[in-house]
Amino acid sequence: MNWLIIGQGAIGLLWYHHLQQYTRLNNSSEITSLSLLASKNHDHSQKNYQYTSLEQDIFQGKIKYATHTQLQSADTIFLCLKSYQITFAIQQISAHIKTDANIILAHNGMGTLEELSPNFTKTHPIYVLITTHGCLRSKPLTITHTGAGKSELGLLFGHNNPRIEKVLSSTLHNALSPTIFAVDITKKQWLKLAINCVINPITALHNINNGLVNNHQFTEQRKQIITELVAVAKAEGIHLSISDLNDNVQLVAQATASNCSSMRCDVLANRQTEIDYINGYIHRLGIKHNIKTPENSKNYHHVKALLTAK
Ligand code: PAF
Repeated sequence: MNWLIIGQGAIGLLWYHHLQQYTRLNNSSEITSLSLLASKNHDHSQKNYQYTSLEQDIFQGKIKYATHTQLQSADTIFLCLKSYQITFAIQQISAHIKTDANIILAHNGMGTLEELSPNFTKTHPIYVLITTHGCLRSKPLTITHTGAGKSELGLLFGHNNPRIEKVLSSTLHNALSPTIFAVDITKKQWLKLAINCVINPITALHNINNGLVNNHQFTEQRKQIITELVAVAKAEGIHLSISDLNDNVQLVAQATASNCSSMRCDVLANRQTEIDYINGYIHRLGIKHNIKTPENSKNYHHVKALLTAK
């Protein structure tokens, strides 16, 4: 299989490094070619990247940037981009790629599938990868694997093909374990969404580390965000438990206590956030199903206002 990774951020480079190492060290035939498509404004003359492992080992590697031929011959396209970049990226590549290339989306939040054209989703199977690996990019092409995690791959849209599912998940697992194939990926997306709906806006708006989200002062807010999310999920046919989500959110906040959430990092760096696909997604589904989502809507508007105020 020819693999193409899109995105030169922390997660894109993490997978690029591990897929490349796996292929090189094991002389694996699973990956015929691996290349990386970076954004147009990225400095393509910079080919050297640096990866620091969980054990603090420093590895220097070289990036093989994708040519047009590699884009055209890719069997699997792994988009490691922010949620708000997905639609544009797919619009840019769709006329050039194989009509049945597998698409893997790895981003926070939900709602990008709805933005893709039916012509695209008719022929391309769309997979989602959810990962809990921690990875930080300190400067361009320099990443540190900060926390061991696990990854789950699942089919979001399209016909299931057990052979392809096995190849994709085993390649990813061999490169960076554990990676499993999850049949209930939509439910897993909602579980992740609940974590992001609580931790991301609270940490961004109060400029605090993840652990402080468990403070008593946020108890009501946490519960309210989750209660609204569970109500809109139910209207979408997904059944979730408020207390399980609440416990899970608190566990993640505790496990990542000293981390700066991605949304807080984005706000501090004056970058666009993924709020439209996190609390904004709940806000839009609330309107669609005529369900009130005051706490999610408030957080959505407040985070939006943070950047316009700067
Ligand atoms: O977006 C993030 O930062 C992460 O998904 C999470 C789980 C909230 C931890 O920081």
